[in-house]
Amino acid sequence: MAETLVVDDGVNDRAEAGLAKDAAKAAERVGLKADSIVIRGGKPLVGRVDVRGAKNLATKAMVAALLGKTPSILQDVPQISEISIVTKMLEAYGVAVTSPEDGVLVLDPKNVERAHFAQIDALAGSSRIPILFCGPLLHALGEALIPDLGGCRIGDRPIDFHLDALRAFGAIVDKSYEGIRITAPNGLTGANIELPYPSVGATEQVLLAAVRAKGVTELKNAAIEPEIMDLIAILQKMGAIIWMEPNRTIFIEGVETLHGYSHRAIFDRNEAASWASAALATHGDIFVAGAKQQELMTFLNVFRKVGGAFDVREDGIRFWHPGGPLKPVQVETDVHPGFMTDWQQPLIVALTQAEGISVVHETVYENRLGFTEALVEMGADIVVHTDGLESVTRRVPRRKLEQAAVITGPTKLHAADVRVPDLRGGFSYLIAALAAEGTSTVSNLGLISRGYEHFVDKLTALGADFDLV
Ligand code: EPZ
Repeated sequence: MAETLVVDDGVNDRAEAGLAKDAAKAAERVGLKADSIVIRGGKPLVGRVDVRGAKNLATKAMVAALLGKTPSILQDVPQISEISIVTKMLEAYGVAVTSPEDGVLVLDPKNVERAHFAQIDALAGSSRIPILFCGPLLHALGEALIPDLGGCRIGDRPIDFHLDALRAFGAIVDKSYEGIRITAPNGLTGANIELPYPSVGATEQVLLAAVRAKGVTELKNAAIEPEIMDLIAILQKMGAIIWMEPNRTIFIEGVETLHGYSHRAIFDRNEAASWASAALATHGDIFVAGAKQQELMTFLNVFRKVGGAFDVREDGIRFWHPGGPLKPVQVETDVHPGFMTDWQQPLIVALTQAEGISVVHETVYENRLGFTEALVEMGADIVVHTDGLESVTRRVPRRKLEQAAVITGPTKLHAADVRVPDLRGGFSYLIAALAAEGTSTVSNLGLISRGYEHFVDKLTALGADFDLV
């Protein structure tokens, strides 16, 4: 009999209820009518899935459209709930967002105006993107109001780097019971900023503020993820002047005006890596159309070391389990070009099937291994060392982060009823349920739609055996 599990990532009942609410809202946004999926596992996933633009670029590209004087066109936009949240936020600020065809958004910022805080607050609860509106709103309106931020509950996720950077540009940050009010009575001025850690969001914050600030901004210790490079490409199309030097330093020379862009979003490498892990864990064979080699190089090396097979083609990458035993690996998550934190959760499911002891060190978020509790209930042998196994360099100052998961395999996975704790953890539970013998139920399904487009249809295309309830 399947057992009901509550994955307690250190969150209390209220947080559990909050997760369920977030999941329901996210499901509604993409028209997903089910809260749970009942999976009859133990069958390989075989077939083709199409991966479109990256969640972690498309949402930011939409915010960048606020900086232009003319409309922007973004292509390959996936139908995920994060996109619908950002669409509604932009609309609340007077940006006209239309979709002339599937996957294309036209964003016209010509009537940008102050939004009602309640409107923004209601939308922001489940997304990290509102903080990135600061720079564009300060340029357009001289003021930004930022509510409490949502996003995946995988750690504290503070915004101190963002606020410090905005202050360096001359913005005034006031915290109130409503959220954070940021003003710039004298406009923004280019600054010398060194991030304490190459944060993706803080780097984007600086880019979006600096492109129209007076003078030159120097950003040291910047993040250089492919999605950030794509955002820089978009800003350059809009008229920005941005260059880079070695050692993660970015320079931005502010310009008076920017215009709209036309851009095809970079593919979602996190989704591609997730389907690759699904192929491996289920003994399957999945062609991920739209996946590209360069942005996945680090992942592909690990995938190969574990014993997975892949074939890079013009239009995508085929990932499959070639038979025989999988091999254990040691992985440490890192900023680009390291092994992405978003890849470790799906990969851990495949590592439960490797012969021997694998170790995954999570160095980016302090609570991103909690999801493994449910895998243990499904039969995996995973021990999480919350203080890490040895003293590794502390990646994020002031915080204790080196969690390590020791995975001993292979272990047979059996069915369970599990609740999705966060986006990538949720996809991992789908993979585990698909790989496990028996019937599992995965609930809080909506959270997966935050970042995986049409995942239910894709599971059908891959021959998964399930019902939605
Ligand atoms: C982005 O989050 C992605 N989200 C994450 O993807 C991804 O895991 C992460 O980058 C790392 O690659 C989006 O792009 C929307 P960070 P972001 O700022 O920008 C600490 C997914 O599943 N930090 O690089 O929020 C922070 O707490 C998601 O798609 C501060 O201390 O990540 C974390 O420990 C989840 N203060 C570390 O830095 C700050 O002001 C890295 O965070 C900002 C960050």
